[in-house]
Amino acid sequence: MRNVTKDNITDVFMGYLAQDTDPRMREIMGSLVKHLHGFARETNLTHEEWRQGIAFLENCAAIESPDRHEFVLASDVLGLSSLVDMLHSQPDATSSSVLGPFHISGAPPLPVGGDMKRHYGGPILLAEGVIRDHAGQPIPGAELDIWQTAPNGLYASQDAEQDTYSFHGLMTVGDDGRYAFTTVKPVEYTVPSDGPVGDILRACGRHPWRPSHLHFIAEADGFRPLVTEVFPEGDPYLDQDTVFGVRDDLVMQYEDMPAGSFPDTGFELSGKVPDAYLKVAFDLTLVPKAST
Ligand code: BEZ
Ligand code: FE
Repeated sequence: MRNVTKDNITDVFMGYLAQDTDPRMREIMGSLVKHLHGFARETNLTHEEWRQGIAFLENCAAIESPDRHEFVLASDVLGLSSLVDMLHSQPDATSSSVLGPFHISGAPPLPVGGDMKRHYGGPILLAEGVIRDHAGQPIPGAELDIWQTAPNGLYASQDAEQDTYSFHGLMTVGDDGRYAFTTVKPVEYTVPSDGPVGDILRACGRHPWRPSHLHFIAEADGFRPLVTEVFPEGDPYLDQDTVFGVRDDLVMQYEDMPAGSFPDTGFELSGKVPDAYLKVAFDLTLVPKAST
């Protein structure tokens, strides 16, 4: 088509999509361009605004590194990551939630009952639960990848003071499907806001805070991996998570446990916690891989 106009350009683009290419690719590119063109028409996008958008992408690329995933962060604060998550949520499984940019592979093994707190100060949290299938049966040998920030609100990869895997652990559950560990009560924290995504948040009058949470990836043979988080009831940011990760079934009560009640056995810290502590019980339900 030679005579391209503002009214026919979207159809012209569709006509350029070769019919013998991958149909899903055609569907995605066609829809993406239809919505991009619709967005420009609806907002009467100016050259200057278009340039700002391109500069945003360039600025994301400029600071992207193995420890800084600015494009993922952009997707997170725009709600795209959570929308994709929810589009594919499994009705019988525990809700999934954002992976975020701070998961690292290769976390050291953490035995059932192990401690992630180590020398760090702060309220002790005992977290435990069972990894189950959709029929409620424990899944023996399931793996639980666990991570959170240190009490300063920073993940290990953001903080030169922490060693590579601090507050990261990989637990393999036994026949009873039960996981259990101690840690420091997670804190609320801000997502990185010193880059282009921070500029967008400020331009939209938004804050960068997330409610406090523990991250989990549960995996077992034959089951769909579950990426999720657990949040404490009462956190001030539950209703305004900047990355839209909170779901009702992921909000749990952190129970106040009295001094002297820490389990005598079964935990690395057994016999070492005379004071009051907190406890959260959170079961995770996985669904078989085949159910889509
Ligand atoms: C996180 O919870 O680690 C996270 C999620 C999305 C963006 C930034 C951080
Ligand atoms: Fe996080």
